[in-house]
Amino acid sequence: MPARKSSLAKAAAWTLATLLVVCAPALAAAATESLPFAAPPPWGVQGSSWHLDLKAYAAGAHGTLACQSCHAKETQALAPGSDLRHPDPKDKSYLKNPVRQAFDYAVCAQCHHLAFERMQTGAHAKAAREQTGKALASGQAPAPNCGYCHDPHYQASHQDRLTVGRRATEVCGSCHPRQLATYLEGYHGQAAFALGHAKAAFCSDCHGGHAALSLKEPQAALAACQRCHPQAGPSFAQFVIHPQAPEKPADQPEKAKRVAVIRAVTILMAVVVGLMVAFFWGHSFIWLLRDLHHKIRRRGQ
Ligand code: HEC
Ligand code: HEC
Ligand code: HEC
Ligand code: HEC
Ligand code: HEC
Ligand code: HEC
Repeated sequence: MPARKSSLAKAAAWTLATLLVVCAPALAAAATESLPFAAPPPWGVQGSSWHLDLKAYAAGAHGTLACQSCHAKETQALAPGSDLRHPDPKDKSYLKNPVRQAFDYAVCAQCHHLAFERMQTGAHAKAAREQTGKALASGQAPAPNCGYCHDPHYQASHQDRLTVGRRATEVCGSCHPRQLATYLEGYHGQAAFALGHAKAAFCSDCHGGHAALSLKEPQAALAACQRCHPQAGPSFAQFVIHPQAPEKPADQPEKAKRVAVIRAVTILMAVVVGLMVAFFWGHSFIWLLRDLHHKIRRRGQ
């Protein structure tokens, strides 16, 4: 009976291959989830130049402002006898420095004091204080200042909610790729970012564009939900918006537990579906072999 044995071996191989094909994505997703900042860092000085596109500048939100509204220091440096120094245009290394990091964004507060003050209270300003004077580890995201999220020279104004929300999603996501991925898979990301449902939530609707609220405390999360879900109670806020493992599991034992359950259920469902498909395919395959076997036997008689 060697022919039968080999066909059984084949059926077994098929079953195994099907299981692998069906379950591999789920298992791979579970395995890669713990990588921090997996996306290539997009920050840094890009296209930095002494020359401004004045047409684009004039069309932007700040088009009516004189350069010295923001560059007062550089302007003062040109005055005779000043001890401030204007950047030397012949010094090529100047533009290689992270201008965006070095700029004193307190000048923005003259006209945008609310945005500026909100930012000082939030997670980004705190991270900036902690990072000052320290070298960033490779792959570590820098704390963003105004210049990471807004272009000082070509910033558009009065854009519609969807344009601003989608652009901000990409900006936030460049430093928080894991939260971006879970947001895009979830209800709000699908509705707001993908389908353009303007009432659903973008990152900044929950976290604030400037305050960067952490929302790890259930009370803070509930307050954020209630802005759009006024009926929401404490159990509503337990809904996991970012179902990926927390960056510091010890700080969020509750979330770590819930994510473990979500992950176990996902893998279990994938295995169940895999086994079902494998069983039916395997069954049909063996049936086919049996049929073939019958035909060959009949012909031989
Ligand atoms: C609303 C504030 C604001 C105004 C108005 C403004 N700038 Fe700037 N500028 C900035 C900031 C912030 C930076 C540093 C960060 C950056 O470049 O993203 C900067 C950087 C620069 C640089 C350094 C090179 C570079 O690309 O980073 C040059 C040159 C410059 N500005 C020229 C000008 C000129 C010329 C004008 C007037 C036509 C002007 N700026 C108006 C805020 C402003
Ligand atoms: C001298 C005042 C002044 C300074 C300084 C200033 N801005 Fe503005 N900003 C304005 C004005 C005026 C507008 C246009 C508002 C409008 O169109 O209603 C504007 C618009 C904006 C907008 C767009 C708002 C919108 O409608 O979406 C952003 C973002 C912005 N500024 C960021 C900055 C940043 C970042 C800095 C510092 C580098 C800065 N501004 C410095 C006056 C200023
Ligand atoms: C982490 C990204 C981020 C940083 C950093 C940031 N902003 Fe914003 N900003 C946003 C987003 C997102 C919006 C639109 C949604 C909103 O209004 O919250 C916005 C909106 C604005 C607006 C228009 C609406 C408003 O709130 O007045 C201004 C002006 C502005 N920002 C200025 C600033 C200034 C000045 C700084 C630096 C002190 C700054 N932003 C830093 C993301 C950022
Ligand atoms: C240039 C990189 C950068 C950008 C852009 C950025 N962030 Fe952050 N963010 C950080 C860093 C660095 C921290 C502090 C370290 C940490 O907790 O990850 C942080 C912290 C946070 C936290 C607090 C996390 C905690 O552990 O409590 C929230 C919430 C947050 N960011 C939301 C946003 C949102 C929303 C946007 C877009 C409007 C955004 N971030 C854009 C770098 C960035
Ligand atoms: C519907 C509201 C909502 C939206 C939209 C949302 N978040 Fe969150 N986010 C939360 C809540 C609630 C938490 C705290 C619980 C948790 O960690 O999942 C959180 C946590 C975070 C943290 C801290 C997580 C950690 O473990 O350190 C960051 C960073 C963050 N979000 C970034 C983002 C970014 C970036 C976006 C958009 C791409 C976004 N969020 C969209 C509600 C939201
Ligand atoms: C900017 C407004 C906004 C914010 C903030 C917001 N949501 Fe939503 N959310 C919506 C809209 C709009 C829908 C579409 C369904 C509806 O109309 O109720 C929705 C739908 C949902 C759904 C799926 C549909 C359902 O009703 O079963 C869940 C779950 C949800 N939100 C949870 C949350 C949680 C948890 C928070 C707080 C961390 C939150 N949302 C914050 C606007 C928001």
